[in-house]
Amino acid sequence: MNSEDKQFRELFDKLKQYSSDKEKYISEIIDSVILILVNRRIRKEDNLDQVKVDNFSDYVKSMLKDLYEDYVDRSGSQNDVGTDIEYIGSGFTCIAFRVGDNVIKFGKSENAIFQTELDSIYQIPTYLRECYEAGNNVHFRVEIAPYADTNNISYEDLYTAYSGIRSLGYIWNDPKEENLGRIVGVSGCKIGGKQYLPSQQHKKGDLVVLDLEDISYVGLETSDVVLEEISMMSYNRNVYKLETRYMEEQKERKNKK
Ligand SMILES: Nc1ncnc2c1ncn2[C@@H]1O[C@H](COP(=O)(O)OP(=O)(O)O)[C@@H](O)[C@H]1O
Ligand SMILES: [Mg+2]
Repeated sequence: MNSEDKQFRELFDKLKQYSSDKEKYISEIIDSVILILVNRRIRKEDNLDQVKVDNFSDYVKSMLKDLYEDYVDRSGSQNDVGTDIEYIGSGFTCIAFRVGDNVIKFGKSENAIFQTELDSIYQIPTYLRECYEAGNNVHFRVEIAPYADTNNISYEDLYTAYSGIRSLGYIWNDPKEENLGRIVGVSGCKIGGKQYLPSQQHKKGDLVVLDLEDISYVGLETSDVVLEEISMMSYNRNVYKLETRYMEEQKERKNKK
């Protein structure tokens, strides 16, 4: 856990004092999220449009409220809202909350980062993902996905996911324990009257990558020299280690044939 994560945890724990009032609790969470996003890695030229920021804030408040009510409807939860909605973590771009059996993530980035859809079991089956331009090259994002269990993820799990994605012709550029989880369930959700259906191909226990921006296409014919170069240049040291192992295993397999 980094120091930023610790601060966020403390902040969102404090907001639980409002949890006797569902609307207030949700509103306080989103106000804090927006404040964090607006001020995170801010640049002079960002030029945020306050009206757009306010609209996004109202929009995600109603989204979070819907997501929570949908969970209560489906599960019959009698919990305090502070138990069902809680901060779970943050990365370079996102702040994530568990809402019952789902997760809502809010992010800010310079680009309208695209997600690589592999249609594979190695990616979290996202229900919804939307992007808002909020200033000069500033984008807010909101994403809803099933909650995955992030405890007890091992280095071997990283390799399982890395090699699975790699065998489809893609490179997972940010392999680390925080970015991997195990499917608990995929029950779908209902937001703004719209039903988002669960993925058919995932089952409990499947390993899934949680952030989907960092997957790039290399194809299945790329030479080892190029792949070695790509993996060496990666900002995440694990790529080189995992790629080297993957290439060695592929070689062994070929020799056996
Ligand atoms: N579906 C999920 N289930 C459980 N935890 C999640 C989920 N998505 C994100 N998280 C938690 O939130 C953190 C930040 O999300 P992530 O997508 O990795 O953001 P970033 O793109 O900023 O790295 C993750 O490291 C993980 O701890
Ligand atoms: Mg991450």
